[in-house]
Amino acid sequence: MPVITCIEDLRRMAERRVPRVFYDYADSGSWTEQTYRENSADFSRIRLRQRVAVNMERRDLATTMAGQPAAMPVALAPTGLTGMQHPDGEILAAQAAEECGVPFTLSTMSICSIEDVAAATSSPFWFQLYVMRDRDFAAGLLDRAKAAGCSALVLTLDLQVIGQRHKDLKNGLGAPPRLTLANILNMATKPRWCLGMAQTKRWNFGNIVGHASGVEDMGTLAEWTAAQFDPTLTWDDIDWIRDHWGGTLIIKGILDPEDARIAADKGADAIIVSNHGGRQLDGAMSSLTVLPQVADAVGERCEVHFDGGIRSGQDVLKALAMGARGTYIGRAFLYGLGAMGKPGVTAALELIRKELELTLALCGRNDVHDLDLSNLVFPHQIPAPLGPYQWQPQGKLAAE
Ligand code: GLV
Repeated sequence: MPVITCIEDLRRMAERRVPRVFYDYADSGSWTEQTYRENSADFSRIRLRQRVAVNMERRDLATTMAGQPAAMPVALAPTGLTGMQHPDGEILAAQAAEECGVPFTLSTMSICSIEDVAAATSSPFWFQLYVMRDRDFAAGLLDRAKAAGCSALVLTLDLQVIGQRHKDLKNGLGAPPRLTLANILNMATKPRWCLGMAQTKRWNFGNIVGHASGVEDMGTLAEWTAAQFDPTLTWDDIDWIRDHWGGTLIIKGILDPEDARIAADKGADAIIVSNHGGRQLDGAMSSLTVLPQVADAVGERCEVHFDGGIRSGQDVLKALAMGARGTYIGRAFLYGLGAMGKPGVTAALELIRKELELTLALCGRNDVHDLDLSNLVFPHQIPAPLGPYQWQPQGKLAAE
């Protein structure tokens, strides 16, 4: 068994083990993938401010997200077709999250159903909703999530129409997978995945097929979302969703301070600053770029959560310092899942936990709640090597 030291190790292993059509689905963005790339690249443009001789024995990562306990400020994001990265993937990821003490979010577009995940876990998980044209179906999903004990609703607003992902179109992506010759040949090179899939019955969209009237054959994902997702959705519709749900509401897909204010007005308990992992509006700003302005726009009115490009605990720390209360990982856990199933998701969470804990200490802080802009150095502040010295630290540390 190779030694896994970073998320990139898991990504490489997943790339070898997961059929191309599903690996590509996870590891791609829309159109030119500019926003997808910049989500991660912008993290590496920000530097951390090293501090020394601060007592770093105490390192507190525990927090709450939307009022619910989290062993660290990291949740598993809702991701579609997770049960195709690995057989029964949503169940395994939810169990790993539960054991690590972090929230798990089940996507509407999951393979394992709400009921499957509830039966396999004992802590409440979160449910993510896409609003369908068939509002009775959407209301039925909310009722099922409530009956399963889901403790928060994550309402996604940035995918009423689907961004074009070139690889998915070329691969003929759908669930169950389209058995094109290319897909069959590629799957034949992934015996572990095929064997696992042969042992489960979960091969299709578990929340939808058999529940939505008239949906027997979903065709490709792109065709199905175009037919079913409701492009007429507006802020006015949020009221009935919030009222029908009646519990903790997290609004996902906010990239603009004005939208953030409206979401807070609508009663969101938290918003997620997100561009859907660069899978929707290609050319939009990275999530990290807009985070401080969005956080300023809502102030204390609701929590600000973040996703987009996180591949390490250092990235989590930067997002927290820039104003996020909590973060979500999507691809980072999917790579672990595709690589090794449940132990792979645990490995991804453990890697990030350890990186966050040590980085916190090396930045001279003891508690994830104490991070702020003074822990960071931005690109325009970084002195040119051997050039005139320009950097002025922004603010002081508690120890000073
Ligand atoms: C969501 O389900 C996506 O494919 O991004």
